[in-house]
This record gives sequence, C-alpha cells and structure tokens, in this order.
Amino acid sequence: MQKSCIIVHVSMNDIIKLYMLDPESRRKWVSAKLNKADTKVDNQVLLAPCDELGDSLIENYIGYFHLPIGIVENIAIGDMLFNACLAVEETSVVAALNKANSFVRKNGFIELVEYNVPEVTGQISYEKVKLGNRCLLNFSEEIYSLIKSRFASYFRRENPFVDIQKEEFDDFIVYNFSFNSHEAMGANFVTQVTEVVSDFLKSHDFPHPLMNIISNTMKDASVRMRCKVKIDEEVGIAISKASLFAHQDPRRASTHNKGILNAIDPILIATGNDWRASNAVIHSFACKDGQYKSLTKWTYEDDHLIGEIALPFQIGVVGGVTKIHPNSQFALEYMGIDSKKDLCLLLATAGLLQNLSALRALVTTGIVSGHMKLHLSNLSKSYIFDSENQKSRFMKEVEDFLKNNKKITQTDADMIYKELS
Ligand code: MEV
Repeated sequence: MQKSCIIVHVSMNDIIKLYMLDPESRRKWVSAKLNKADTKVDNQVLLAPCDELGDSLIENYIGYFHLPIGIVENIAIGDMLFNACLAVEETSVVAALNKANSFVRKNGFIELVEYNVPEVTGQISYEKVKLGNRCLLNFSEEIYSLIKSRFASYFRRENPFVDIQKEEFDDFIVYNFSFNSHEAMGANFVTQVTEVVSDFLKSHDFPHPLMNIISNTMKDASVRMRCKVKIDEEVGIAISKASLFAHQDPRRASTHNKGILNAIDPILIATGNDWRASNAVIHSFACKDGQYKSLTKWTYEDDHLIGEIALPFQIGVVGGVTKIHPNSQFALEYMGIDSKKDLCLLLATAGLLQNLSALRALVTTGIVSGHMKLHLSNLSKSYIFDSENQKSRFMKEVEDFLKNNKKITQTDADMIYKELS
C-alpha cells in the first residue's frame, strides 16, 4: 500500500485516467490498491448509510445527506505521493484538482517550505467587573500541576507545551491556554482543560467565568508549501496579476480563498474533520494584518510560475468522527495519511493546486466553458433519447446554442429537445 512516509519515484506513469472508468471499476481499482480482496467491503463503507452511526452522532437523526466522494490520484509533494479523497457536490472541483495536479506533475513540482506543529488554544473569559483585581497568573504553578495530574496521559506525550497568556479587552479579561494537541484536533481536550481550571479557580474566590471554550484562531501558519511550474509567459504573468489583485481587493480575496477551500473542505469532510472550525481558523488567519487578504501568492520569473500558500489547520487524524466514521477511516487509508503533519501538507497542496486551476481558467478561457461541459452533460440526463444518434445531435445543438448565446437554461434545452423529437 502506498504510504506517505515511503519515498517514491514520481513518474508520469502514476497519472491514471480514472475518469475513463465507470464507478464500479473505480471502486474495484481502489480496492485492489488497498489490497482488499473483496470490493463489497468498500461498497459497504462507501455506499451504505448506517442508522446506528447516524443516531449516535446527532440528535433527532432521520437519515443522510449524500455527497459524492471523488478521488485524485498521486499528488506529489517533494518525493512523497499522496492521494486525495473529496466529498463534494460542486461539479468542477475534483476535475479542476486533477487537472492542476497533472499539469504540475508534468511541468514542475510542489515542496514543503515550513511546518509548525499546530497548537490549539482554549479560552477562559471573565467580565472585568466581576473579576476585579484577581489574576489567574498568580496561580500558574498550581494550575500547571492540576492540569498535569488531571490530564496525565496527555503529559506522557512528547512536547505537550502549555502556554498561558493574558489578554485584556474593554470589558473582558481572557486567559488563553495553548497546547500541542498531537494527532487529535484537541477541541474537546482544551475545553475540558479550561473547565477544570475555572472550577479550581472558583474554589479560590474567582467568579464564574463568562465561558470556557476553544478559540478558532491560530496565530501561526501550520504549513507553508511552494509550487514551481513552467508555464506559457502570457498566462504566467496574468496569473501573477490575478494574485496581486486578490492581495489588494478584499472582495476578490474572499472569492479567491473560496476557490482554495473548494479543495480543502471536501478533504476535511471526507476525513471526518470539523470543516467549520477549519474555515473559521483560515478566514481569521486571512485577516491577521487587519484586512482580509488572499492566502496564496503567485509570481512569474524566468518562464516559471511560483506559488506559495501558508495556512493554519485545526484538524486531527485520530479521535472524534475521524475515528468512528468508516468513510473517514477509508479516506485516510486510501490517501496514505496517518499523521496530522501529512494531512496538513496534503490540504495545503490541494488548496494551492485548486487555486492554480481556478486562476488559470479565469485569466484564459473563463470558468464557464469548463463548468458548462459538465452542466451540458447533466442537462442531457433529464431527457430520454430514442437512440445514441438522437443524443449526440442533442449534445451538438446545446453546445452550439451555448457557443452562440454564452448561456443555456433548462428551458432552452427543453426547446432544443422538442425540436429534435
Ligand atoms: C468557484 O467555486 C471558485 C472560483 O470562483 C474561485 C476563484 O474565483 O478564484 C472560480
């Protein structure tokens, strides 16, 4: 089985045209890859909704909302290979990631620039009027010992770092507790820590806090990736201008970043991660300089486009839904990921590739033509055709209509269908 930690020789033979297979053949192919003799195993995991699981996850459970799961093979990061598993409804996302991946695999590379162990922060917040002149920091020693004894298994791990910072606002005093949450996301852990600490403080005459909860802000990027790819000069320069535009205009920056999240969110969903938390963390990071900014930067030098992305991640590969949802277990296994670091690398790389795909389309053909190919094929599914010939005539007519009118609606397609019948 492909593992991220194994150094592999990246060759173009690794690029497989999965889109040419039907879904059952793709599942068989994935099964064979994971060395699972029986594809029913994967079919059960991938296709069958499970009441027991749904009912254990949420209140008033009645069923599932199905998202298609798609895969992108062989994303190369340095000399490692990963696969991506995406749960997403937006038509063009998997195709765009696949396209950018093939383009970079043929003409360039992606490498890790920097990885910082993600830290997770819990906040105990007090109203100033209630707190008076009490200060939690006067109890630091006792608090460290308390946390160490109550969360002993956590402190047996390497580098558990605990940092307590005080922050003051007009009406509130906040104590931020930061930890290395290792392979878990750490949301439950930090919230539990803040509750234990504020209970301890209550027994030392502190008031009831306003709240104890994780902060979905991270001050440092967890990962910084770089991509270098040979590209046509005109397109390269146009992409660098698109990047500058997104850096200067916050309205454009949010759309630009949405395109990056187009790849990241589906991987978070497929791996059972809390994508709302990650989105909050990432958008808050995009505002760290006081203005909402784009999360990638592209420049063009010596025939090459160079792109960088730096992102914070509040994610995990153990614990929570990641552990109990069979789909996320499957996704992690298929992707070849067993550490938070590898998942951070893959998420940032997928975001960078997705952004490249969007910008390349936007500064050349526009995204409508790419979207439209899939849209037209979806439109054709609403009709019954007497023959293949009738279907191909229909497809030709709708394509011509789109070319001439730059748009096509279901009503237009209905009219074309009627005329052909
Ligand atoms: C659409 O889902 C995403 C894009 O709008 C991203 C972008 O504009 O960069 C195409």
